[in-house]
Amino acid sequence: MATRRLTRKEQMQQAILYPVDWLEERSGLVGAVKYFLFRKVPGDTNWFQTLGSATLTAFIVQALTGTILAMYYKPDPNSAYDSIQHITNDIWAGWLVRGMHRWGASVFIILMFMHMGRVFLFGAYKYPRELNWIIGVLLLASGLGEGFTGYLLPWDQTAYWATVVGININGTAPFLGPFLAQFLQGGTYINADTLSRFYAIHMLMIPGAIAALIGLHLYLVIRLGVTSPPWSKEAAGTGPLDGETPNGKVGRAGLSRFRRGR
Ligand code: HEM
Repeated sequence: MATRRLTRKEQMQQAILYPVDWLEERSGLVGAVKYFLFRKVPGDTNWFQTLGSATLTAFIVQALTGTILAMYYKPDPNSAYDSIQHITNDIWAGWLVRGMHRWGASVFIILMFMHMGRVFLFGAYKYPRELNWIIGVLLLASGLGEGFTGYLLPWDQTAYWATVVGININGTAPFLGPFLAQFLQGGTYINADTLSRFYAIHMLMIPGAIAALIGLHLYLVIRLGVTSPPWSKEAAGTGPLDGETPNGKVGRAGLSRFRRGR
C-alpha cells in the first residue's frame, strides 16, 4: 500500500508532538501540567485570588536576583561592604538587580500579608484547608526570616545595629531565646562567623525551605480546589470539591463530613 507523503504542516506538527509524547509516555508530566492548567475553579473567582500567584512571582524574582547577587557578593567582614559597592557602582545593571532584590523583599512580604488577609476574609482557612493555612504561617515566618538575615549582608552600620537589636529580641524569648541568639551569632557576640552564618541561612536554608513549602502549598491548593468568595451563592469554604472535583472524582477521605458541615 502506497503511503502518502506528509505535508510540511504535518511534518512540523510531528516534530513538535514527538518530544511531547516521548516525555508524556515516560513521565506523565505533560498530563500533570494540563491537569494543573485546565482544572476547574469557581465561576466567581476574582482578582483577590491572584494575590497568591503575585506572591509566588515576587518569590521567583527574589530567587533570580539573589542568585545574580550571590555571584558577586563576598560574605567576609573585610570585603562584604566593598563587594556590595562594586555590585552597585561597577557591575553592568548591578544597581538594578540589587534594587530589585532590596525593594522586592518588601514587595514579597507585603504581598504575603495581603494574600493572607484575602484567605482570612474569604474564610478560606476553614476545613478542609487548615493545613494549608499552617503551611502559610510557616511561609510567612520563613519570609520574615529571609528579611532579617538579608539585612545584615551589606555589613554597614545600619545592618550591624539592626541585627544587634534583632538578635537581642530573639535572645529574650522564653527558654529557647539564649540558644537562638547564640546560634544566630555563631558565638557570644556578632563576629565574622555571624556574617557567613546569616549568608548560608539567607541563601540556602530558608529559600530551600520556602521552595519546598510552596510546593506543598500549591499541591494542596490543587487538591482541595479554590474557595469561592463569601458573597458567592456557593457557601464560602467549598470549592470544586463540592461534588465536582477538577478531575471529576468525589468521595475522598473526609469529603462527606465536609459536605455535611455546610
Ligand atoms: C511564599 C508565600 C506564599 C505563596 C507563594 C502562596 C501561594 C498561593 C497560591 C498561588 C494560592 C492559590 C491562589 C490564591 O488563593 O491566591 C494560595 C492559596 C492559599 N494560601 Fe497561600 N501563598 C503564600 C503564603 C500564604 C500565607 C502566609 C498564608 C496564610 C497564613 C497562606 C494561606 C493560603 C490558603 C489557606 C490558601 C487556599 C485558599 C483557597 O483555597 O481559596 N498562603 N497560596
